Parts: sequence; C-alpha cells; structure tokens
Amino acid sequence: MENKTTSAVRNLQKKVSELQYKNSELEKKLQKFEQSFNTLLDAIPDMVYLKDKNLKNRIVNKAFADFVGLKKEDIIGKKDEEFFDPDLAEQCRSSDEEVLKKRTLVSVDEESDDKAGEAVYFNTLKSPIFDDKGNINGLVGISRDLTIIKTKEAQIKKSLEEKEVLLKEIHHRVKNNMQIISSLLNLQAKNIQEEGIKQIFNQCRSRIKAMSLVHDKLYKSSSLEKINFSNYTKTLTMHLMSINNTSERSIKLHFDMDEICLDINESIPLGLITNELVSNSLKHAFPSQSLFNNINKEPKQISVSLKKKKGKNIELTVKDNGVGLPNNFEEKTENSLGMNLVMDLVEQIKGKLKIDSLNGACFKITFSL
Ligand SMILES: Nc1ncnc2c1ncn2[C@@H]1O[C@H](COP(=O)(O)OP(=O)(O)OP(=O)(O)O)[C@@H](O)[C@H]1O
Ligand SMILES: [Mg+2]
Repeated sequence: MENKTTSAVRNLQKKVSELQYKNSELEKKLQKFEQSFNTLLDAIPDMVYLKDKNLKNRIVNKAFADFVGLKKEDIIGKKDEEFFDPDLAEQCRSSDEEVLKKRTLVSVDEESDDKAGEAVYFNTLKSPIFDDKGNINGLVGISRDLTIIKTKEAQIKKSLEEKEVLLKEIHHRVKNNMQIISSLLNLQAKNIQEEGIKQIFNQCRSRIKAMSLVHDKLYKSSSLEKINFSNYTKTLTMHLMSINNTSERSIKLHFDMDEICLDINESIPLGLITNELVSNSLKHAFPSQSLFNNINKEPKQISVSLKKKKGKNIELTVKDNGVGLPNNFEEKTENSLGMNLVMDLVEQIKGKLKIDSLNGACFKITFSL
C-alpha cells in the first residue's frame, strides 16, 4: 500500500516538474516573441499605436514615444489628451471616433507642432480591431511624418512659380525687343525712296511680327508652354489682311480651324510658313482691281485651314482662288526668299509640302506632333 502511494506521489512530482519545465520553456518563447515584436515595432520609422475601445493607448512604438517625448510605459494606459496638446488630441480623437463608428479604415492628414514648435504634417491610417464575435475591441494607427515631403513640395511649388514669372517676363521682353526691331526697320524704310526695297523692309517686319505674336500669345497663355495655334493663325492672318488693304481690294478670308495647341518649336516655323503663304496670296494671287477673281469670276478668297488628321498628324492648308502659280514657278523660287524659307521650315518640322495650282494656288503642309 505504502509502495503504491509513494510511486503515485513520485509520478505526480515528475508530471509537475515536467509541466514546470514546459511552462518555463513557454515563458522563454513568449519573452523571445515579445522581444522580436518590440524590436520590429521599434524599427518602424512611422508611429504605430494600438488603442482599446476607450481610446486608451495599449501598445506604442519608439517613434510614437519619441514624438510624444515620454517613455513608452508613461504613455501606456493613457488617453491622447493626457499628453498631446488640446488641438492635436482633438484631431486624433475625432478620427478615432470615426474609425469606431464607420468600422472601417480611415485615412487622415494631421497637422501639429513638434517639441521645438515647428509645424509637422502626418498622414495617418487607422483601422478597427474586432474580437471573435465581430465587436470592436479598439483600433490600430500608423502615422507617417510627411513634413520633409511637404516642405520640399512647398519649395518646388515656390520655385516653379518663380520660374513661371521669369518665363512670362522673358516672352514679354522678347516680344518687346522684336517690336523695337520692327520699329527700327520702319524708321529706316521711311528714308528709302525705292518701292522694291521698301517692300523688302516691310516683308521683314511682317516676319518679325509673325514670330513676336507667338511670344505674345505664350506670354498670355495659362500654360506658358503651348499656344492655341488656331487662335494665333487667325490673329496673324487678320493682321496681314489689315495691312494689305484687303477690304478695299475685296479679298475675303475663310477659316476652317480645329482647336490645336502647339509649343514654341512648332508655332514659330508654322507661323512663319503661314505668314509667307498668306502674304504670297495677297501679293500675287489677285493682281487685278476687279471684285472677282480672274478664273471663274468668283469673289476673291483666301482660305486657311488647320485640321487634326489620323494619329498625331496635323494638316495646314493655305489656298486662294487667284491667278494660280506661274509656269516658271520652280525657276522663280530658285532664288526667292519666301518659298525657300517655307521649304526650309517644313523640313525643320519634319513635315511634307504639297503644292497644286488647279484653281488658284494651294499649299498643304502635313506634319506630326
Ligand atoms: N499664291 C500665289 N499665287 C500666284 N503666284 C504665286 C503665289 N505664291 C507664289 N507665287 C509665285 O511664286 C513666286 C515665288 O514666291 P516667293 O514667295 O518665293 O517669292 P516672292 O513672294 O516673289 O518674294 P519673297 O521672297 O519676298 O517672298 C512669286 O514671285 C510668285 O510669282
Ligand atoms: Mg513671297
């Protein structure tokens, strides 16, 4: 009997010590896990915190404790209003309550002052935590400091605004300088008696005007990069019409324009091309004083069209219903400035030029954006 009791006690003692060993092993594992968990949490540069449903902080990481300026153990068990300034505490409480109410992830941008009184900006993501029955147990939050990004953003914005003002100023000055050059040519032309040379001066002024108009439109455009080319062409052509007494000569202008915006590299050559071609129509197409053209007695007309074509292709057409191109057109253009300039500029924009003279003169330029 005694032997049986002794052996039962021994067995029990053995089981107890086995359980004690297992327990201490589990404790060690738990400690190790806790250590790894804290190491992981503290290695996260964002602020991480877990609150219970009464909004008391239960777990916080080092980044959070550093921002608050307290030890972790002095934060645990406390509500935000016990260590944050009232403004920030209110921002936090309001988004906490939103999470608890909506039971879903909430993203908020928060603003506060750091310990030195400097403005700091955060983006915070907060999600609810649920128990097994789906009841809300609390929430977990991650706040990322965006102060450096925001400061850089503000610096870039400021520098961009400064550059825009500068660019505007440059376009304005370029336009003004071109106007001065044009006025100088005008003054010089006044002392010239020979009509042919006077005309050359005026053609130069017209080319300068075509270029300065691009800068004028760029200066006035909101993007500073592109101009509404249809609008530009209208202004340019109307200007050419007005200085060439077209109302007296009964020449009508017809536009067919798609809204197309082009940058300075495309606008200047195309503007100069349009200037040459419309000037040519005005200069050569309607030599007679009659109200109608020489071919089919229709009213005299110059048409300018700008059309979007397949893909990124654009087609600019300048045509008139005047006398048409002379038979020796190619020979004539060998030494003339106008058509050579047109061909060089078409090449510059990697475009193609098609000329025909079936019913007046027609110049079609296609290019790709
Ligand atoms: N729309 C047109 N209608 C009739 N003839 C034209 C037309 N466009 C050009 N021409 C003819 O082609 C020639 C060459 O034109 P181009 O523009 O090269 O020279 P220009 O107008 O005479 O002088 P500039 O070099 O000052 O422009 C003109 O002299 C003219 O005879
Ligand atoms: Mg010409």
